[in-house]
Amino acid sequence: MKTQSYTQYQALIQSSEFKKLKEDFLSLMEKYTSSVQFENQAIPEIDYQSALDEFLELRGRGLFYPTIQSGLGRGPLYEQLNGEVKYDMVTGIGVNFFGHSHPRFASTLFDGVVNDVMQGNLQPGVEATVFLRRLIDQVSKKSRLEQGWIMGSGTMVNEVALKILRQKKSPASKIIAFEDCFCGRSTAMQEITDNPKYRQGQPTYGIVDYIPHYHMEDSLDVNIERTVSALKVLCQKEDYVGLMIELVQGEGGFSFGPKDYYVAVFEEAKKQGLYIWADEIQTFGRTGELFCYQTFGLDEYVDLVTAGKMLQSCVVLYTKEICPQPGLVAGTFAGSTSALRTAKVTLDLLLDEGFLGPEGKIQKLSDEFRKQLESLSSEHPHWVSQIRILGGMIAFQPFDGSMERVKSFLFKLFEAGVVAFSCGHGPYLVRMLPPFGVMTKDDISKVVSIIESTLEKEASE
Ligand SMILES: Cc1ncc(COP(=O)(O)O)c(C=O)c1O
Repeated sequence: MKTQSYTQYQALIQSSEFKKLKEDFLSLMEKYTSSVQFENQAIPEIDYQSALDEFLELRGRGLFYPTIQSGLGRGPLYEQLNGEVKYDMVTGIGVNFFGHSHPRFASTLFDGVVNDVMQGNLQPGVEATVFLRRLIDQVSKKSRLEQGWIMGSGTMVNEVALKILRQKKSPASKIIAFEDCFCGRSTAMQEITDNPKYRQGQPTYGIVDYIPHYHMEDSLDVNIERTVSALKVLCQKEDYVGLMIELVQGEGGFSFGPKDYYVAVFEEAKKQGLYIWADEIQTFGRTGELFCYQTFGLDEYVDLVTAGKMLQSCVVLYTKEICPQPGLVAGTFAGSTSALRTAKVTLDLLLDEGFLGPEGKIQKLSDEFRKQLESLSSEHPHWVSQIRILGGMIAFQPFDGSMERVKSFLFKLFEAGVVAFSCGHGPYLVRMLPPFGVMTKDDISKVVSIIESTLEKEASE
C-alpha cells in the first residue's frame, strides 16, 4: 500500500492553489474592511426598522439597542445592517476583544472551512486539544491547574465546575458565592447569581449562601474583617463544597480589592476546607495576564477556573485531584470548528504579540483610558465619578448613578455612535469591555470625546 507523508486535509491546505485562494480572499476582505469608516451614514433605502421589528416578532422580545451587525467591521468599528458604523466599546459583552473582521481569525477560519461545522466529544478533530494544550501550558507552571473541559457557554462551564465540586465533596452540595455576583442563566446559575430580577417566577433550591465582596469605598482592613467573619459564620453552620468568586465583579459593578484582600479570604477558605473556584468568564484575557488570578498572584490558591467570552470558546480548568469521574461531564458538542480554531489564535495573539504584562499593550491602553476619563472627571466632577479600571475592564458612574440616568445616557451615547453597557445595582455604572486587541490611543481619544459631548447633552436635560 502506498503511504503518504501527510493526510489529504494537510495536502489541501498546503497546496499552492489553496494558499493562493486564501491570499486572494484576505486581500479582497481587506479592500472592503478598509471602507468601514466611522463617518459612514445609514443607507436611506434599507428598511432597517423591519429587520429590528423581526426580532420582536420572532423572539417576543426586541433588542436592547436598535443594532444589527451587517457582517463586516474594521478593528473597533462595526457596520450595521443599515450601513451606519459604530464604535464598539462593549464587544458583545466582552467577546470581540480583537475587534471585528480580524484577518488572523479570517485566516484560521479559511483553513477550517472544509471541516465539520460543529465538533463533538466522541469523534473530535485536534482543534480542541491544540487549544487546551496552549492554555494549560501557560497556567500549569505556577498553579495546580493541569486539566480542563471545553463547552460552548460560560454558563455550561460553570455548571461543570459546580458538578465537579459537588462530586468531590458529596454529600455536601451548597456553594458560597459573593453578593452581587453573576454566573449565568441555567437553573443553578441563575439561583447562584445574586439578582432576583433574573429568576422571576423560578423556584430556588437553597444551593447558595453569600458573603460580601470588596466594597471599594471602605479600607482593606474593614473589607477583610467583613468578608472573613461572614465566611466563618457560614462555615460554622454548614458544610459547603467551595467558594466561587469573580475577582473583578462584572455585572455586579466592576468592584475589586487588592491582592491582600483575596489572600486573607482564600487563606480562611482553605482553612475551612473549601475548594476555590474563580469565575473568569468575563475577566479572562483582560487584566494584564491571561487570568486575573495571575494578575493578582493568586496562582497557588485556585482549584478551578472558568473562562469564556473573548476566548471564543469556554473552558473549565481543574486540578488533577478533582478531575470528574467518567459519566459526569459530556455533551454532544465541544464547540464549532471556528470557535475552537479562533480560541487558539486568541491565545497566540495575547501571548505572542505583546499584550500582557505591566508594560504590555493592554496596560498602556488602560492607562490612557484612565488618564482621559480622570481628566473629564476633574473638569466635570458631577458628570463622571467612581472610575473603576483594571486593564481592559472600564467603568464609571455618570451623574447620580441612577438607573434612569445611566440608561438615558447610554442611549444618547449609542445615537452618537458609541456602544457601551451598564453594570452595578445602584449606583449603576457605564461598563466598557473595549477591543484593546485592536484599539489605538487615537480611538480612545475619539471615544472619550464622544462620551464628553454626550455627557454635556445629558447634563443639559
Ligand atoms: C462572570 C460571568 N460568569 C458567567 C457568565 C455566563 O456566561 P455565558 O453568557 O457565556 O453563559 C457571564 C456572562 O456574562 C459572566 O460575566
